[in-house]
Amino acid sequence: MPDIRKLVILTGAGISAESGIDTFRAEGGLWEQHRVEDVATPEGFARDPDLVLRFYDMRRAALAGVQPNAAHRALAQLEREWAKRDGCDLLLVTQNVDDLHERGGANDVLHMHGQLNSALCNACEARSPWTGSMADRPPCPVCGAYALRPDVVWFGEMPYDMDTIYASIRSADLFVSIGTSGAVYPAAGFVRDAAECGAATLELNLEQSEGSAWFDESRLGPAGELVPAWVEEVLAL
Ligand code: NAD
Ligand code: APR
Repeated sequence: MPDIRKLVILTGAGISAESGIDTFRAEGGLWEQHRVEDVATPEGFARDPDLVLRFYDMRRAALAGVQPNAAHRALAQLEREWAKRDGCDLLLVTQNVDDLHERGGANDVLHMHGQLNSALCNACEARSPWTGSMADRPPCPVCGAYALRPDVVWFGEMPYDMDTIYASIRSADLFVSIGTSGAVYPAAGFVRDAAECGAATLELNLEQSEGSAWFDESRLGPAGELVPAWVEEVLAL
């Protein structure tokens, strides 16, 4: 494997599956239980804000009942060790809105789709840490307006920190995708961007994803097994 210094790791719902959090497009997954247009679009929120606030209250409350798994912990170990190496950088970007990377020990996680434990104010645009209910319409902690929404990026909205992500992808030596179906852009296009900029590309997923053709290597299996083994391999380089 060539000299690996600059790492970009993208994670999706699959890395949290073994912790008991439903993925989106699996059989019985989140989008089979709820219509995307009702709970994950701005139009859905405008149509029925109470439904959406209750949906995200339920997902936020469910976090208390789940724990990070070996894959989250292995990436946290990689983050710690990689920081000790001169000239090495690691960007951990997740599409997930759960906090399992952080609870697994990771310190610097880029949540491109936002986070359940954060509130966004439609009046002052402040983002505030949030762990309670939003369905009872609390005021914004910053401006006091009754205009809070989940700080989660919905279909049709722009994800966060795209400039940071693309800058890291352009200079990456290795791009690793873990637990994502490659169904939703722009995240689904990252592997092609990385490959075209010269990075090696690796996929760790339960099954072939929609972007598999762009990966140099695809390892299929549960993240809880594949990720610790891969971290051990890359730390031995
Ligand atoms: P997209 O059109 O790229 O999404 C493609 C996939 O998303 C579809 O194949 C389908 O699986 C699903 N999807 C999108 N809209 C749907 C709908 N109305 N009904 C059913 N399935 C639907 O996504 P987009 O609209 O371009 O999203 C724009 C941005 O929003 C993207 O950056 C995406 O990452 C983000 N996003 C975030 C969330 C979240 O829950 N945090 C959900 C969806 C999208
Ligand atoms: N280990 C590894 N991969 C797994 C596991 C596991 N234990 N379980 C499931 N997977 C894989 C599935 O094979 C699938 O390819 O994780 C992927 C989950 O795909 P999705 O359910 O589509 O979730 P994700 O790719 O994160 O969705 C992307 O779409 O709806 C939006 O915003 C939402 O962030 C989400 C985005």
